Amino acid sequence: EKYNIAIDGPAGAGKSTIARRVADALGFVYVDTGAMYRAVTWRVLQQGISPADTERVADISRNLRLELRPGPEGQQVYANGEDITGLIRTPEVNANVSDVAKIREVREQLVRKQKEMTAAKGVVMDGRDIGTHVIPDAEVKVFLTASPRVRAERRFHEMKDSQPGLTIEQLEQDIARRDKIDEEREVSPLMRAPDAVLIDSTNLTIPEVVERILELCRA
Ligand code: C5P
Repeated sequence: EKYNIAIDGPAGAGKSTIARRVADALGFVYVDTGAMYRAVTWRVLQQGISPADTERVADISRNLRLELRPGPEGQQVYANGEDITGLIRTPEVNANVSDVAKIREVREQLVRKQKEMTAAKGVVMDGRDIGTHVIPDAEVKVFLTASPRVRAERRFHEMKDSQPGLTIEQLEQDIARRDKIDEEREVSPLMRAPDAVLIDSTNLTIPEVVERILELCRA
């Protein structure tokens, strides 16, 4: 039986790791929507466009041919046929993605694609507005959080090899800044859907969080 699972929450809460494992356990497709906002942001920066130039950013998101493909190490991201998976998790993209994601036209474009991807069900989708806007009728909804310090530490361990010199303090600031923009934006801000189950993963292991979500699926 196929259904959809929406996983939302702030940056660094562990959404992508958890969502991927839940998808693997159920044989569902995992979709990381943050990667789509990151891909548009990567292209905007590559073209030398300012995220404040909403018209040109909207043009980029309209014209970028985005593809998400499941790969051996998780979701691969292609833009106009080019594999940009490794290029969308840089400090530059981190610093600009929330300003791109608050543009109404960008969200309209990407949310339309995301809705198409969930139409056939059997999808675990993670992001910021999945339970509230993209799949408001998802059968299972989770809002995943953790303390700001723990979220920064987790990001640090993910990024320390590819970004030497990065500190936990820098990451904590970057995460706090992005969360604030995501929570305060006018269009589909980051928030818990009233019917989403809150899971605080500060003191939980990854398998424990995955098990809780699988329990919700069985209920
Ligand atoms: O999940 P990730 O940290 O990769 O997302 C990067 C950024 O993309 C978020 O900080 C947020 O600004 C934006 N985003 C969003 N809506 C989503 C997913 C991500 O606004 N559904």
